[in-house]
Amino acid sequence: MTVALEGFHAVKHALRFAPDLVTQVCVRDLAEARALAERLAPDVRDRLLALACSGDVAHPTGVEGLAVRPAEARDVLRTRTSPLVLLDDPRHPGNAGAVIRVAAAAGASGVAVSGALDPWHPAVVRGSAGLHYALPVLAVRPDEVTGPLWVLDADGEPLGDVPDDAVLVVGSERAGVGDELRGRADRVVRLPMRVGVSSLNLATAAAAVLYAWRLRKG
Ligand SMILES: C[S@@+](CC[C@H](N)C(=O)[O-])C[C@H]1O[C@@H](n2cnc3c(N)ncnc32)[C@H](O)[C@@H]1O
Repeated sequence: MTVALEGFHAVKHALRFAPDLVTQVCVRDLAEARALAERLAPDVRDRLLALACSGDVAHPTGVEGLAVRPAEARDVLRTRTSPLVLLDDPRHPGNAGAVIRVAAAAGASGVAVSGALDPWHPAVVRGSAGLHYALPVLAVRPDEVTGPLWVLDADGEPLGDVPDDAVLVVGSERAGVGDELRGRADRVVRLPMRVGVSSLNLATAAAAVLYAWRLRKG
């Protein structure tokens, strides 16, 4: 299946993390694309230019591309050495994309998504800036995921040290974490908030917990 890479940063990330999967790069102006690559991503410049053909490009960066979807690495649902984020029925593609982006940055083992939202929907890939190519991104049923289940909830216990093999369950925008995953939780944990604030955006909550784990590791 083909994935649209919208913009220079999406093309750059796909080229960096999965160079063999990028099949096409289209640029509005070759000299401008070369200058952009030299300034922002010299490591992928040659590969980008080798693939580049000139054409109409709608994206403001003047760069777009296409890539093949990677083979699914589903082992991460059962065994891992860094936390897996499980988004329970998210509704907003931009939120899911933002989680994939921060999960890649923090060194999470993957992002699993339950419910109706396709984690490879173009709007989700747009939100991750192409970082879908940096880690496994999988549509799942909740019962496929095993390991220490840490449910994130504003009414949970204080966070504590996140285990390396944790599954960090983050709820949907409106409903939070559903009963099925809540019933299987090993821990329900919270990020402290000022009195009067009811909840964080789900991507912000995922980011804070991932970085609590990451910063402890140095
Ligand atoms: C916008 S919140 C959902 C709010 C929803 N009304 C509820 O009752 O949970 C989306 C998700 O972000 C996470 N989250 C938000 N604030 C949090 C906090 N202070 N501590 C831990 N997780 C939080 C939870 O996983 C939550 O399900």
